[in-house]
Amino acid sequence: MKITMIGSGYVGLVSGVCFAEFGFDVTCVDSNPDIISRLKKGEATIFEPGLDEMMIRNIKEERLFFSTDLENSVKEADVIFLAVGTPSRRGDGEADLHFIEQAADQVAHAMKDGAVIVIKSTVVVGTNSRIRERIQKQRPEIRFSMVSNPEFLREGSAIEDFMRPDRVVVGVEDERGRETMRKLYRPLYLRETPLVITSLENAELIKYAANAFLAMKVTFINQVADLCEKTGGNIQEVAQAIGMDKRIGSKFLHAGPGFGGSCFPKDTRAFAATGLRYKAPQQLIETVISINEERKVKMGERIIKAAKEKNTDTVAVLGVTFKPNTDDVRESPALTIIKVMQEAGLTIRAHDPEGEEQAKKVLDNIVWCSSPYEAAKGAGVLTIITEWNAYRALNLKKLAELMPSGKIVDLRNIYKPEEFQDIDLDYISIGR
Ligand code: UDX
Repeated sequence: MKITMIGSGYVGLVSGVCFAEFGFDVTCVDSNPDIISRLKKGEATIFEPGLDEMMIRNIKEERLFFSTDLENSVKEADVIFLAVGTPSRRGDGEADLHFIEQAADQVAHAMKDGAVIVIKSTVVVGTNSRIRERIQKQRPEIRFSMVSNPEFLREGSAIEDFMRPDRVVVGVEDERGRETMRKLYRPLYLRETPLVITSLENAELIKYAANAFLAMKVTFINQVADLCEKTGGNIQEVAQAIGMDKRIGSKFLHAGPGFGGSCFPKDTRAFAATGLRYKAPQQLIETVISINEERKVKMGERIIKAAKEKNTDTVAVLGVTFKPNTDDVRESPALTIIKVMQEAGLTIRAHDPEGEEQAKKVLDNIVWCSSPYEAAKGAGVLTIITEWNAYRALNLKKLAELMPSGKIVDLRNIYKPEEFQDIDLDYISIGR
């Protein structure tokens, strides 16, 4: 089967490369010629562990191609994935579907009779049906099948999540769509990965409900962390113990500065907006959104307080990406935290193993440093915002020399208070 992937971003590129790895012929299309020319050279345009070697292998074996020419890439395709962005619309937070509609219109004109159209992008319930009508209206003479196949890839572990998912969710409207998806995901099926075959609407709802629930789970533990601080509790021990209940589960119970990224913030807003639109308000998720926004500002204020106590105007920031093992800074808590600190007149010295290039596009007046120790020079406070492995075993004595009786504000609880016993640093963390 010939697959064409429209959109070669975080979702489209990873999915396209993985389908090539399954043995299918895949062409990844993108409108950005720079991206396509870099991809053709085997250069991954996103930081995703393991992606480049998988790309190079499949390019060599002539299964993986890249093109800016949508029309020629689509006309012979058996399966056409729409994996373009669905960003938050300004104002009401609804998912902005114009990239999807644009791609659907271009695909409609080029696709062959009997093709299967798969929407992989995260779209609000009802979109698949609307896109089907939109395509059929432009090509009344052809038959095609519509499929909804949302992704559950986490950035930084996207290949792992694609190759070993807890389940594959497929929304279909006919037998042809069902059979095609079974064939596509056969390599996973052989590994007994559950293939959930359901309706188009259910597949769309499953994606949003999953992400909204995960965002709520993280926000829940962040709030319990606040209570732990007031009552002498330890959030890590509380989280570990409640997570032992299989009905709760231990994942996504790590308290932090709040959730960020290109998905949770966007998907919670869209889910809340959808609830309002259909008069089934998702009040829990509306509250999750406001708690999370507030928390990021509160984290900034916590660091400002430490800077005042230390009587310093320089803060070292370790980690600006929204999580480790990615270069993505979209809606990272660090962006809000840094802006709050800068508004308070603090000077920021920052380090991030992968995120500097992306961060420079959205942050100004930052002194970018080549190492955590370089960032600590001249700073009275050092804060860890992203739990990169590079920050898990810092030389605390060396930090103390660089920041005599400095303050460490660890927003990811990477360290334990007892590690600072005989070190001339004042350690502050969250929920402990
Ligand atoms: C998420 C979903 O996990 C994934 O299934 C979906 O397809 C896309 O959105 P991603 O946004 O890449 O993936 O990152 P994730 O690992 O889910 O983290 C999201 C945010 O929650 C990050 O800011 C992270 O720091 C935060 N988080 C996560 C916590 O603060 N604590 C946790 O325990 C887990």
